[in-house]
Amino acid sequence: MSISINSRIESIQISGIRQFSNQLIDYPEAINLTIGQPDFPTPEAVKQAAIIAIQNNQTSYTHNAGLLELRAEIASFFLDTYALEFNPQSEVIVTNGASEGLDSLFRAILEEGDEVILPAPAYPGYEPIIQLCGGKVVYLDTSDTGFQPDPQRLESLITDRTKAVLMNFPSNPTGVTMESAQLEKVAAVLEKHEVFIVTDEIYSENSYGEKHTTFASFEKLHNRTFLVHGLSKSHSMTGWRIGFVLGPEMYMKHVLKVHQYNAICAAVPSQYAALEAMKNQRHIPAEMNKEYIERRDFVYKRLTDMDIDVVLPKGAFYIFPSIEKFGMTSFDFAMRLLKEGGVAAVPGSAFTKYGEGFVRISYAYSMVVLEEGMNRLEQFIQTLKLRD
Ligand SMILES: Cc1ncc(COP(=O)(O)O)c(C=O)c1O
Repeated sequence: MSISINSRIESIQISGIRQFSNQLIDYPEAINLTIGQPDFPTPEAVKQAAIIAIQNNQTSYTHNAGLLELRAEIASFFLDTYALEFNPQSEVIVTNGASEGLDSLFRAILEEGDEVILPAPAYPGYEPIIQLCGGKVVYLDTSDTGFQPDPQRLESLITDRTKAVLMNFPSNPTGVTMESAQLEKVAAVLEKHEVFIVTDEIYSENSYGEKHTTFASFEKLHNRTFLVHGLSKSHSMTGWRIGFVLGPEMYMKHVLKVHQYNAICAAVPSQYAALEAMKNQRHIPAEMNKEYIERRDFVYKRLTDMDIDVVLPKGAFYIFPSIEKFGMTSFDFAMRLLKEGGVAAVPGSAFTKYGEGFVRISYAYSMVVLEEGMNRLEQFIQTLKLRD
């Protein structure tokens, strides 16, 4: 006999990224290009701020929404960088990473049967959260539109069950950003329909083309847009677990209740570290970007030289080449690349079925590692061609 557990969680699988990376242990010599976090250390001053906070016994609960000083700094960052106005008292919540922010947010807005439209290929962290709330993800295929959401296709998916549209640009896994002209077309569709916009812009500070334009900047959408952000990527702070949710006061008070009961507040030494990051270390992402751009250009050139179809990524630290012409599933390709070629890259199918035919390569690695990875990939591809 076994006692039944929540049927929704029972039907949810562990992420495809994890399923694949669990295999890596058997291939210790492989060049691992699967990791989704910066390879830089957390900035020294940020680490020191947490150490000092601990030494000063600043280790008890804060306000549920986070230290007011930190919320004020977050609001000032969005005002200075994107001319967005958020009231730090009522429109900013500091969460345990963007992940907890998304979970608290969706639990606050979704009801059984609600639909959330999500451009795909997509980050695999979203669907399980939505399903746990009784919601349903409706995918907007971007695999044949250069990974940009097509406005007409988006509109055709909106029904009276649609509660929210979830965007993630710059995107994990494609690295694609949405430039302002495209963003405006998508916003024009959303203006016509009363749905929430949830925009996960955790990679906004890692943008390499035109300056990042945020979905939260559309006046007509502002009163129903939630901006999800955090320091994991911009300041190499994945383990500190600091995220932010920003949105209209009338909804944020409900998000705060979920966050209050599932977390009380974000980890306090991490909040002090975040305060230093937001106040004095805003230049850090631009420093990292110099290296990411060099690496992206290198990997892009190597892939195109290998005659592989690939969209030039303009943000985040991923590149998503097509492997369709090799005539096998992305999982089989990734497994063979690992076993025969000694390189680990995540199969595109880990990012929904719309990622089939691609693999995700992370370039959050040193040039030495990337060079060896690309050399091995090239050799592997040559062996495939020889067998044809
Ligand atoms: C698009 C996207 N959103 C959210 C997250 C989770 O971020 P956090 O570490 O802040 O929970 C990730 C992590 O890889 C991500 O790629």
